[in-house]
Amino acid sequence: MRLSLTWVLAFVASFRGSLCVYWDENNTAATYNATALVAQGLLDYYTGLQYGKPVGMFSDPYYWWEAGGAWGSILDYWWYTGNTTYNGILKQALLAQTGDNNDYVPLNQSVTEGNDDQAFWGLVVMAAAERNFENPAENEPQWLYLAQAVFNTMALRWDDDTCGGGLRWQIFTWNSGYDYKNTVSNGALFHIAARLARYTGNTSYVDWAEKVFEWMKGIHLLEEDGTNLVFDGAKVEGNCSNITKLVWTYNQGLLMSGCAYLWNMTQDEKWHVRTWEFLNASSIFFNDSILYEVTCQGANSCNTDQRSFKAYFSRFLGLTAQLVPQARDKIMSWIHASAKGAAQSCSGGTDGHTCGQNWFYNGWDGYYGLGEQMAALEIMQNTFCLDRPAPYTAQDGGTSQGNGAAGTETQATNLSPLTITTGSRAAAGIITAVIGLSIVACTVWLVI
Ligand SMILES: *[C@@H]1O[C@H](CO)[C@@H](O)[C@H](O)[C@H]1NC(C)=O
Ligand SMILES: *[C@@H]1O[C@H](CO)[C@@H](O)[C@H](O)[C@H]1NC(C)=O
Ligand SMILES: *[C@@H]1O[C@H](CO)[C@@H](O)[C@H](O)[C@H]1NC(C)=O
Ligand SMILES: *[C@@H]1O[C@H](CO)[C@@H](O)[C@H](O)[C@H]1NC(C)=O
Ligand SMILES: *[C@@H]1O[C@H](CO)[C@@H](O)[C@H](O)[C@H]1NC(C)=O
Ligand SMILES: *[C@@H]1O[C@H](CO)[C@@H](O)[C@H](O)[C@H]1NC(C)=O
Ligand SMILES: *[C@@H]1O[C@H](CO)[C@@H](O)[C@H](O)[C@H]1NC(C)=O
Ligand SMILES: *[C@@H]1O[C@H](CO)[C@@H](O)[C@H](O)[C@H]1NC(C)=O
Ligand SMILES: *[C@@H]1O[C@H](CO)[C@@H](O)[C@H](O)[C@H]1NC(C)=O
Ligand SMILES: *[C@@H]1O[C@H](CO)[C@@H](O)[C@H](O)[C@H]1NC(C)=O
Repeated sequence: MRLSLTWVLAFVASFRGSLCVYWDENNTAATYNATALVAQGLLDYYTGLQYGKPVGMFSDPYYWWEAGGAWGSILDYWWYTGNTTYNGILKQALLAQTGDNNDYVPLNQSVTEGNDDQAFWGLVVMAAAERNFENPAENEPQWLYLAQAVFNTMALRWDDDTCGGGLRWQIFTWNSGYDYKNTVSNGALFHIAARLARYTGNTSYVDWAEKVFEWMKGIHLLEEDGTNLVFDGAKVEGNCSNITKLVWTYNQGLLMSGCAYLWNMTQDEKWHVRTWEFLNASSIFFNDSILYEVTCQGANSCNTDQRSFKAYFSRFLGLTAQLVPQARDKIMSWIHASAKGAAQSCSGGTDGHTCGQNWFYNGWDGYYGLGEQMAALEIMQNTFCLDRPAPYTAQDGGTSQGNGAAGTETQATNLSPLTITTGSRAAAGIITAVIGLSIVACTVWLVI
């Protein structure tokens, strides 16, 4: 008797406290409301506003790189919905983590940082330039400058000594993964080069993009003539001949949308064909038009990082739709079906808008985290991607100032693992407690 009374009280409490995600693709106001709730759920993982916690970082176990990814989702949230609620903390976060050299290799991260980690912060500042996000003060580094500094410092690590070129995964020899040339590092270099090319009009970046693409193709990380799938990487041992044939949404998306930028800028047909090849091959990531992480999701083995990959892919789908008009119908049908699935998965947690991992599961599947929240937010807000302008360039709308030599003026070369402490992984704390009760509450709410 006492137990059931407790349950009734808990039910009532969670019912009153829950705000549910209600998705109706034909009701714009409702989709904005739903997106706002999911965005709020994402920021629940942000600890940078708490006393003594580093600005820009999310709670444990989310690594620094994923924070860069999450801020990219928040930037898009502003851009696609016009909601400025988080712009202040976004700007503060982006400027807090630049590091002394303004290239997103901050001391706190530098000993463990990989090329891909740096690149994900490069992506968000690139987008800030392209969306003409409020420029930093004159005495602060500018968005374009930061993106160029990320590109330049990455490009300087290009390694011709093994495998005929390519970036290694890790920056430093002492980190495991230094012997691996991975696609996300190289794909991100390609992708950022493509975006800098289109933004600045400087064709040196096109040359770089071409060089990275040809190298990746050369060692068969990109199966350009067959499946058009993008594989994970290759160990340097054996001259990169042993390809790790895992596929991930974010790698496919980095290549696809990089090609879309290059097509949009150069109008060279080969980039158009390649955009389509990667786009068509992406069907492997869809189940009845609903996006999923094919390599790990079915087996429920996606790790913390992998659970955010669909967020970037969703973002890259939207960019591709903006830049390649012919691809819009195909992309938007995927985005709409996936957003609907994602939104209905966002019915978990005590808040009633915690998102799940599996978007074709009926309701919330019990998974939760920053990755799940970001992925749902990105696919939902990208349903608006054709209502907003395509990425600006310096010629048309972009005002951010840069410098072709950014990041190379004062290269920090004296980093030593002995003099730097690995620093903060933000303190633990599960933000969104998980009880099934509020799902029931939400269902009742929706029925009412
Ligand atoms: C939205 O409108 C389209 C076209 O009128 C229709 O096919 C679709 O079923 C509608 N969706 C919902 C959820 O009502
Ligand atoms: C959206 O939310 C606002 C308040 O935040 C509310 O007034 C409005 O009715 C909601 N619209 C829909 C369609 O749910
Ligand atoms: C803006 O976003 C915040 C956070 O997601 C939300 O609470 C607020 O209701 C949104 N405002 C409007 C007008 O949608
Ligand atoms: C290693 O691979 C690169 C790229 O495929 C190739 O150019 C080079 O000749 C290879 N080196 C050796 C020693 O096989
Ligand atoms: C290729 O890599 C896989 C995974 O690392 C390993 O199991 C396999 O033995 C390697 N094959 C060769 C020929 O080196
Ligand atoms: C992509 O698929 C469409 C059919 O859905 C086909 O018409 C087109 O030729 C394909 N493009 C490429 C480059 O494979
Ligand atoms: C695709 O989704 C359906 C449910 O809509 C599910 O039964 C099926 O197992 C899914 N397929 C894969 C490959 O996950
Ligand atoms: C480039 O993108 C713009 C903005 O969406 C679009 O209007 C234009 O047609 C695109 N150019 C090409 C060559 O596809
Ligand atoms: C063009 O980009 C290259 C590569 O980053 C750079 O070295 C060069 O200074 C840039 N040129 C101009 C005019 O900005
Ligand atoms: C670096 O780590 C220290 C120690 O955890 C922390 O106090 C500081 O805020 C961090 N700085 C940044 C910029 O994250």
